[in-house]
Amino acid sequence: MPTALITGASSGIGADLAREFAHAGYDVILLARRRDRLDTLAAELGHTARVLVADLAAADAPAQIFAATGPVDLLVNNAGFGGYAAFASQDIGAQAAMIQVNITALTALTRLYLPAMLERRAGRVLNVASIVGFMPCPGLAEYAASKAYVLALSEALYAELQGSGVTVTCLCPGATETEFAAIAGMRGKLAMRRPMSAAAVAQAGARATLAGQRLIVTGTQNQLTSLLPRLLPRGLLLRGVRKLLTGR
Ligand SMILES: NC(=O)c1ccc[n+]([C@@H]2O[C@H](COP(=O)([O-])OP(=O)(O)OC[C@H]3O[C@@H](n4cnc5c(N)ncnc54)[C@H](OP(=O)(O)O)[C@@H]3O)[C@@H](O)[C@H]2O)c1
Repeated sequence: MPTALITGASSGIGADLAREFAHAGYDVILLARRRDRLDTLAAELGHTARVLVADLAAADAPAQIFAATGPVDLLVNNAGFGGYAAFASQDIGAQAAMIQVNITALTALTRLYLPAMLERRAGRVLNVASIVGFMPCPGLAEYAASKAYVLALSEALYAELQGSGVTVTCLCPGATETEFAAIAGMRGKLAMRRPMSAAAVAQAGARATLAGQRLIVTGTQNQLTSLLPRLLPRGLLLRGVRKLLTGR
């Protein structure tokens, strides 16, 4: 059986991605910090699932994870979080942890798992970015910047790896019903209105990954939003995003 490692599998989009890939025939390794959640999902998925508890905010986590799993056929870099607040008032430790999880760990895991995939001339990577990765976002400044990094890295790797048998897919969801909004302090905010279900986002992301697609933006509204930076002058775009996210 091919093996998939899914980070952030204890809730939301990651849990549903794990369900999708398990149903597609992968043995799944479920990674996050909350063991109880992972155990419950592993019990639901049966003998094809195994649990790996790790904190991706720890600098040595990616190397330890790779040592524990060995090469996999599919790497899903889904774990991530954001913080909704004025940049200068954000907790410095939380900002650093976010950059470590959203950017540094994702980069290190991709770097660690790719060589064996390239050697076998087969493999898939799915990186979860966000619709906010397409534009600067006042109020979510460093979270949106972290997702811009994920989007740029993923698309560059997709092109770099063409013809290698390995594909990198970037999933860009908009508002999705998960624990994200509560953790980010965005519950009830305009930008989180009419969220998609995590199951629908995961289904689209899994399909695109298995098809070796470069990019998947979920939902028509989000697809249109992703085009705005190409259509609007930068200043107008920034004012519109600031109004939506901060109300001023
Ligand atoms: N929901 C949205 O509206 C939305 C929109 C666009 C993009 N996204 C992106 O989608 C991805 C999944 O988020 P979600 O919406 O499903 O939110 P979620 O329900 O909060 O899930 C986040 C997952 O990341 C894991 N995680 C967080 N910090 C971690 C750490 N230090 N070490 C290991 N795992 C960690 C969490 O597990 P533990 O807490 O158990 O460690 C959890 O499994 C994220 O990258 C997020 O940025 C979400």
